[in-house]
Amino acid sequence: MTMNQQILLDNRPAGEATAANFKLVQTPIAELQEGQVLVRHHFLSLDPYMRGRMNESKSYADPQPLGEVMIGGTVGEVLESRHPKFKAGDAVVGMGGWQTHSVVDANVFGALRKVDTTHVPLSHYLGAVGMPGVTAWYGLVKIIAPKAGETVTVSAASGAVGSAYGALAKARGCRVVGIAGGKDKCDYVVNELGFDACIDYKEHKDYLSLSKALRQACPNGIDGHFENVGGMVLDAVMLRTNAFARIALCGMIAGYDGAPLPMTNPALILVNRIRFEGFIVSEHMEVWPEALQELGSLVGTGKLRPRETVAQGLEAAPDAFLGLLKGKNFGKQLVKLI
Ligand SMILES: NC(=O)c1ccc[n+]([C@@H]2O[C@H](COP(=O)([O-])OP(=O)(O)OC[C@H]3O[C@@H](n4cnc5c(N)ncnc54)[C@H](OP(=O)(O)O)[C@@H]3O)[C@@H](O)[C@H]2O)c1
Repeated sequence: MTMNQQILLDNRPAGEATAANFKLVQTPIAELQEGQVLVRHHFLSLDPYMRGRMNESKSYADPQPLGEVMIGGTVGEVLESRHPKFKAGDAVVGMGGWQTHSVVDANVFGALRKVDTTHVPLSHYLGAVGMPGVTAWYGLVKIIAPKAGETVTVSAASGAVGSAYGALAKARGCRVVGIAGGKDKCDYVVNELGFDACIDYKEHKDYLSLSKALRQACPNGIDGHFENVGGMVLDAVMLRTNAFARIALCGMIAGYDGAPLPMTNPALILVNRIRFEGFIVSEHMEVWPEALQELGSLVGTGKLRPRETVAQGLEAAPDAFLGLLKGKNFGKQLVKLI
């Protein structure tokens, strides 16, 4: 009998998450029922939203239940199928969770999707051509809606969302400026992702200093901003916004472990008539096909070359996840499970 390796949420963090919040177990895989598909996961996606799910409190989604397999996106291959639309060997993407295998009820709409790996490597369906890519697309296209020639910025610029955002914004003729942690990440953002400039926020001790650097990188001000971090970074960007700037509020990772993130100068929202809009990408499934098509073609034509940090083996997932919350990842954080 094939065994499934799984990571459960064992207990909830008090403050910072730790490896002791998780538990590795082995369970036998039950025989397939009619309509079910057995998937062998090749990659697990680690994403910042998982930190929020570890808390008890209700957010935009229910908490991750204790004692159950951690939620997570996965790509892999079908090992066995009792559903007419899937056959052994199919490459598929789904929400298989932190485990080596999953048994999926393929009759549930959207539970499992076949993907084509001819031009796009399988792992990219968890990053640039998956949820993070669509997130960048939604915030840029539907909220910021930039005109060619406008200046747009993004924090966590070297990451899964930020890198896709850069390629999408360049394709629309924008000046694109990133903010990221460290020289290596900033060099990558400019030299490999093709941003016009990137500012290392770690070189600035406060938002006024960071804002000065932004003024140099954005001589015409900021028309649109995509926020992934919050705190000092957002404060600095707000100071440089033009009248009627749009800010897509995607994430506030600097506060995911519970640190308060006060806004220093909210009066700027009024003075600069800034439009803020928060969004959750899974609530906009209607844009996914169009977004995935553009992202797939950017990757397929080499205009977007996303970087990945790959941890090996399911047992490495907790540490890799904790590292992601501290910026130790470089690009999309994955766990290889084969
Ligand atoms: N709203 C939605 O539907 C949605 C969907 C997907 C993702 N998101 C959000 O989008 C953001 C980016 O996600 P991603 O998957 O692309 O992750 P990522 O950028 O690949 O990785 C996270 C990055 O955040 C930065 N970071 C971590 N802790 C930080 C801190 N305390 N202060 C400043 N920066 C910190 C680090 O980059 P540096 O080293 O550059 O600091 C780290 O590499 C997250 O906030 C996530 O929650 C939202």
